[in-house]
Amino acid sequence: NEGALWGGRFESGPAAAMAALSKSTHFDWVLAPYDVRASQAHARVLHKAGLLSAEDLATMLGGLDSLAADVASGTFGPSESDEDVHGALERGLIDRVGPEVGGRLRAGRSRNDQVATLFRMWLRDAVRRVAAGVLDVVDALATQAAAHPSAVMPGKTHLQAAQPVLLAHHLLAHTHPLLRDVQRLRDFDVRAAVSPYGSGALAGSSLGLDPEAIAAELAFDSSAENSIDATSSRDFAAEAAFVLAMIGVDLSRMAEEVILWSTPEFGYITLADAWSTGSSIMPQKKNPDVSELTRGKSGRLIGNLTGLLATLKAQPLAYNRDLQEDKEPVFDSVAQLEMLLPAITGLISTLEFHTDRMAELAPAGFTLATDIAEWLVRQGVPFRVAHEAAGACVRVAEARGVGLEDLTEEELAAVDPSLTPDVREVLTVEGSIASRNARGGTAGIRVAEQLGGVRRLSESM
Ligand code: ARG
Repeated sequence: NEGALWGGRFESGPAAAMAALSKSTHFDWVLAPYDVRASQAHARVLHKAGLLSAEDLATMLGGLDSLAADVASGTFGPSESDEDVHGALERGLIDRVGPEVGGRLRAGRSRNDQVATLFRMWLRDAVRRVAAGVLDVVDALATQAAAHPSAVMPGKTHLQAAQPVLLAHHLLAHTHPLLRDVQRLRDFDVRAAVSPYGSGALAGSSLGLDPEAIAAELAFDSSAENSIDATSSRDFAAEAAFVLAMIGVDLSRMAEEVILWSTPEFGYITLADAWSTGSSIMPQKKNPDVSELTRGKSGRLIGNLTGLLATLKAQPLAYNRDLQEDKEPVFDSVAQLEMLLPAITGLISTLEFHTDRMAELAPAGFTLATDIAEWLVRQGVPFRVAHEAAGACVRVAEARGVGLEDLTEEELAAVDPSLTPDVREVLTVEGSIASRNARGGTAGIRVAEQLGGVRRLSESM
């Protein structure tokens, strides 16, 4: 069987269903460019160890170059008989340089150390692309925040009216988890930058090969300290899958708000035509599908993480074929985010905010009650008493069907003699917002400061 990497001790080839079960070329082919690069590094190390003549090295590197070009152009691909990407590439190399030279490459390495290395290489690159996509979303949020420096809105807890806040403050609140996710991706790389190459099947190499040289050539920080660990551990993949799922969850929280805000009941935003969809029956519809797919796919990303963890659980050392199941969930999480992130960036950058509507709703639901209580505290009233008094103001206003700012002098005094008409100075949305001027608060100066910080941090990443 051409392209098979084993067979000497077998009298028959695998049954068709065995081969079908075993096969991974339909998903591991994305590792091919990394496999060729790693093979070139391995060839040089074989030469350094005296196991490959200078002439054979040159032939082999030439063959690998031509293979890389054919993989890139799509003229070389896996065939029906290939079990995995590694076998397919050996077949391709032997086609180019013959079995005498091509057959020397596999000395001192195993698919176990190979695949663990290639998966790390692929993932380190993928994670950089995802991080760039997340930073684009952060930029879209920051740009909208900058475009609406003084727009106000109802801040909510429990989805109930809570306290007025700046729209920019709310938008920036979504940038921080995303920035932390990018930091998590950077941090993942610290542990992922360790090369398993040279670990062999599990026990290391007897051929005097130099794992550190391969690691350096493949842009790893170091080679693995323990060959058994290096070939069997996939915590690096689980860590990436977690951060990718966390990104999905963070995007989903934002998506949920876009869905709510675009309903006529909220009426905060209008979605751009380019980032919404229609209905096949209801002509009036404009649906927030980007957000719904984000919310839906976050479930898928969580599933990829939990599926991978379940695959890893209770596997004895060292390599087990279960580990072939490690790649698809992670590949999928990356692919889903690579589709989602540009769409979310487009969606956020083109949101039209109805700031008049948001301003009108900002004081609704007595959101200035806390301001009355805190005003009383500044007059020396204990907060316990102040809280009761502000609550009583809400009761009186609610009974009369008016806002807190509409209470008369007499009504205020009847609630508590400390409630002089001066309290009205805090009974505006703008006054309330401006008063929350401690670090992290919603006052305009603080939010402007925060926007600068978000911009500086995302540009430095
Ligand atoms: N395709 C396998 C994987 O993805 C690598 C091959 C290891 N096979 C083996 N028989 N040791 O993990």
